[in-house]
Amino acid sequence: MKILVTGGAGFIGSNFIRYMLEEHPDYRIINLDLLTYAGNLENLADLEGCRFVRGDIADKAFLETLFAEEGFDGVVNFAAESHVDRSIEAPGAFLSTNVLGTQALLEAAERHGARRFLQISTDEVYGSLEDVGRFTEANPLAPNSPYSASKAAADLLCRAYWKTFNLPVVVTRCSNNYGPYQFPEKLIPLFITNALADEPLPVYGDGLYVRDWIYVRDHCTALDRVFHHGRAGEVYNIGADTEKTNLEITQTILEKLGKDAGLIRHVKDRPGHDRRYAIDSSKIRAELGWRPATSFEAGMSHTIDWYIRNESWWKKIKSGEYRQYYQRMYGNR
Ligand code: NAD
Ligand code: DAU
Repeated sequence: MKILVTGGAGFIGSNFIRYMLEEHPDYRIINLDLLTYAGNLENLADLEGCRFVRGDIADKAFLETLFAEEGFDGVVNFAAESHVDRSIEAPGAFLSTNVLGTQALLEAAERHGARRFLQISTDEVYGSLEDVGRFTEANPLAPNSPYSASKAAADLLCRAYWKTFNLPVVVTRCSNNYGPYQFPEKLIPLFITNALADEPLPVYGDGLYVRDWIYVRDHCTALDRVFHHGRAGEVYNIGADTEKTNLEITQTILEKLGKDAGLIRHVKDRPGHDRRYAIDSSKIRAELGWRPATSFEAGMSHTIDWYIRNESWWKKIKSGEYRQYYQRMYGNR
């Protein structure tokens, strides 16, 4: 099978390519990535057997040539602007990549007869929950940030390409991922790397916001299942039943690293901050027999060890463009 993976130089995409090459060594994977600030070829440096192509998923002429040249059996679309805070600062790129880029990719897949299109979406399209209840696939879409609104728009385009053109699209909506190679602007890698450097941990607001965490490899095993066995036109939630407040995450990191709670700083809240996410993943479990395999404790230990062992990976990132972003985002907070 020949698969186009987009955004494969980012966090989840690179973990997915690594996982797929292990599980399906006979597959040919082409990784299309624009290499934005979040894309890093070092994430794949140890891998062989995967062609890399630099390009923009929103560039239709470029996609036409690539699809004609390669003749993909399937497409897995990870490529996105993915950080909520950046979408509040500058939403334009989110619309260009997440909405127009997804549409361009759907069009190319449809024109060239792809047999599978897997759209990697997010639980954030459902909006925010109060203290009780969980998101099911039947929940209405109620996104609250430019990021989640752009992902919801892409989900609806996927639905339209299934209904109108019969393109066999499947959409997955996963909860918050953590693990190796996550860019250190997201909560867990930011706090691990700051704590390692004895720098403050900027907790937004009261720190009692809840996210439902999944170890990235478990997300990849679910995507493999959905890619091969999911029903076309369907949406599948993916989650590991691991709700934690941001302060619980912060305490776990401080404890595992033996650092002092004095590093915690409560800073100005994120505008429109979603209070709680919680995923009901009973559909994928019942229909496709998927289960997460990694406990939160094991996943966090492995992740923290990885950041300790791979200091040069994140130090290179934090000494570059990311520093300017950090100053803009947290300088006056
Ligand atoms: P990431 O920001 O680490 O990686 C995104 C990748 O996409 C980067 O390599 C970047 O260079 C590439 N990219 C951006 N714009 C592009 C364009 N126009 N053309 C080609 N490539 C482009 O993101 P991530 O955390 O790995 O998330 C991957 C996908 O999973 C996203 O679609 C995101 O919405 C979704 N998702 C993420 C999470 C999470 O917790 N991180 C949870 C659920 C869903
Ligand atoms: O739910 C899935 C989503 O999870 C994905 O679709 C997104 O791509 C991914 O970025 C993530 O979004 P969040 O906004 O939940 O993740 P983030 O790591 O930015 O923040 C997690 C929580 O931690 C959130 O409540 C905000 C808080 N936070 C975050 C940062 C960066 C802080 O308190 N301080 C921080 O410095």
